[in-house]
Amino acid sequence: MSEDFIISEEGKKLEEFEQRIKSGDIIEPKDWMPERYRKQLIRMMSQHAHSEYVGMLPEGNWITRAPSLRRKMILLAKVQDEAGHGLYIYSAAETLGAERGELYQQLLNGTAKYSSIFNYPTLSWADMGVIGWFVDGAAIVNQTMLAKCSYGPYARAMVRICKEENFHKKQGYEIVGTLANGTLRQKEMIQDAVNRWWWQSLMMFGPPDKDSPNSAELMRWKVKLKSNDELRQRFVDLTVPQAEAVNLTLPDPDLKFDEKTGHWDYGKINWDEFWNVVKGNGPMNKERIRARREAHENGTWVREAAIAYSAKHKRG
Ligand SMILES: [Fe+2]
Ligand SMILES: [Fe+2]
Repeated sequence: MSEDFIISEEGKKLEEFEQRIKSGDIIEPKDWMPERYRKQLIRMMSQHAHSEYVGMLPEGNWITRAPSLRRKMILLAKVQDEAGHGLYIYSAAETLGAERGELYQQLLNGTAKYSSIFNYPTLSWADMGVIGWFVDGAAIVNQTMLAKCSYGPYARAMVRICKEENFHKKQGYEIVGTLANGTLRQKEMIQDAVNRWWWQSLMMFGPPDKDSPNSAELMRWKVKLKSNDELRQRFVDLTVPQAEAVNLTLPDPDLKFDEKTGHWDYGKINWDEFWNVVKGNGPMNKERIRARREAHENGTWVREAAIAYSAKHKRG
């Protein structure tokens, strides 16, 4: 078979694939897909799964200090949900031929990324409210889009995850409302948490479109349906009225409603800080990886027992 023939065959497949994407078809694991589509999806999905996993740490830190049994039960359930989200997404990545153990090793050895927001510390109980409101709120905006993405297993995982994220956001906003209507000290505590988490939450959507090299391709293949800046704007538009409803101030003097566009304009994001944290220099980067490594080592006997159990069953 000549090389020209192979190249034209590949070209034809690519054309058919792009046609399928254009007509709104959903791509399933056994369908032909360009290697680059597979790679980009594995990269995105593993980063997403790692974020769910690492995301358990800042809130897990407050389970033993929750102010009531009700709050403790809710927070415990929420953190467990995040572990489940990680598992769904690792499973979805496996349908693309990725190996879960390998993906996890990349997290532990620092070669894979996860959301930078989790590299900040949780300093007070009010952070539990604001994380649910902002961080899970931002996750909903992003994941509602991903629930309509072109890769079937990822899209389906997102449908269920989004339902759970809505509960996470509501529990956070309920804590926020309670503290905002509480004593003066509670009000100060919640405003302080808002001040510390607002800009970091805007950074969760990733760099501005002009500095986001993968975005155009991901959008052409409908892995992403909206750009980073569009999603960020949606989050700001949704959150400003929610802050007003509980009399809290978002720490941005440039926030202004634009009558013409119908959107809230916002101030300049400090991207130097973002890149610095991505490079590993955030306040909690080292601690987060240390904690995940420790959990992985402590879980060795569980993995070994599971393998031995399944081998025993195979023997019958
Ligand atoms: Fe989640
Ligand atoms: Fe969540």
